[in-house]
Amino acid sequence: MESKIIINGGRPLCGEVTVSGGKNSAVAIIPAALMSDEICYIENIPKIEDVIVLKKMMETLGAEVTIEGNTMKVDPSNVSKWIVPDDLAREMRASYYLMGTMLAKFGKAQVAFPGGCNIGSRPMDQHLKGLNALGAKIDLKGGVYVCEADKLKGCEIYMDVSSVGATVNIMLAAARAEGVTTIVNAAREPHIVDLANFLSAMGATVKGAGTPTIRIKGASKLRGCRYSILPDQIETGTWMALAAATRGDIKIRGCVPYHMESASVKLAEMGVEVIEGEDYIRVNAKNRPNAVHIQTLPYPGFPTDLQQPFTVILSTAKGTSMVIETIFESRFRHVDELRRMGANIQISGDVAVITGVESLSGADVVASDLRAGAALIVAGAMAKGKTTISNTKYIDRGYEDIVDKLISVGADVSRT
Ligand code: EPU
Repeated sequence: MESKIIINGGRPLCGEVTVSGGKNSAVAIIPAALMSDEICYIENIPKIEDVIVLKKMMETLGAEVTIEGNTMKVDPSNVSKWIVPDDLAREMRASYYLMGTMLAKFGKAQVAFPGGCNIGSRPMDQHLKGLNALGAKIDLKGGVYVCEADKLKGCEIYMDVSSVGATVNIMLAAARAEGVTTIVNAAREPHIVDLANFLSAMGATVKGAGTPTIRIKGASKLRGCRYSILPDQIETGTWMALAAATRGDIKIRGCVPYHMESASVKLAEMGVEVIEGEDYIRVNAKNRPNAVHIQTLPYPGFPTDLQQPFTVILSTAKGTSMVIETIFESRFRHVDELRRMGANIQISGDVAVITGVESLSGADVVASDLRAGAALIVAGAMAKGKTTISNTKYIDRGYEDIVDKLISVGADVSRT
């Protein structure tokens, strides 16, 4: 039976918490390790469901994958298959990164159309455009992408939208392609820079990651390496939201404050104190926040993944806030649940108009996706009374030890 998270909310969360390694970095870097024939050690791996599923996928291809503490050892020397089992591919979004890696390694890949959070249509045209341009032929047969390439050859690829997933997939394939690949209008998220650093450690030459133009000079052979992945930007933002929403005071350790600028600025506009150190952020909120307007945008804009937790803070702000979601069309599914808890939120297309109420009250709610689940944790911690969150499998896909970490900052929370 699936577990539920029960929170008796209404108390300020105070103390210190340490952020885990980035989910969206891990799910790009782990498959990249398959492209070498040597062992890679990937440190600061978050122990989350998406990583476990990815580990299973890599094992079915022949890789030996072990996790000790937070270090994953990937031995790809016996990888001999390129067909990813459909049921595993459908369990998560990042399974499509095995298209780029297996094409790079074998010139062949078979991966079912990926699963992942249901937050909008999530097309793959930019992935296909990029991989095609590098020389791959890709057919969708019975819901499975069948990919083949005699040879991958670097070229210039202009992306019509700056997609994180497509940028990653093209970088992966380009890392072993002949010559130089230039990605124009590339995504700039911290996990793109993380992957670029990992590929460089493996022997590819990657320049410009973090800017809209990335150049990758492929290497015919990639070596093993030891690499530590960056802290999770979205987990950091979730703790920032928890501190602000509960009028608490949390020092978030082991994060990169520079990655959090858009969130920090919005909290400051709300009247919340944000103190940044070299590798920590302290968020101290004493009063009801001011209403603010937020628009989600690709990095360095405000992340769509934090829109849902931040909507919760605004649900008890003084005044009326507007949140515009420009990335995914179905990312307001947490709002119905927030209304159950007493929030006053009107949705019109991609805009949520939030009229702040004094407080929310606990209720039985259902997580519809990963960040909706995170938003409901923030809401439950802030609301008066008991909140029971079901469908917690979504939360476990992206947050390591969430219940224990919440307890460490004083939450009254348990899992059934
Ligand atoms: N898009 C296209 N064509 C494509 C690819 C994307 O039109 O070929 C559009 C999408 O529909 C969307 C926009 O481009 O409107 C951006 O999508 P992107 O490809 O950047 O998203 P993604 O790669 O599917 C990753 C994260 C998401 C995060 C988004 C945006 C991973 C595994 N997932 O998704 O993370 O929301 O980037 O930053 O890295 C999460 O962690 O909860 C999560 C959903």
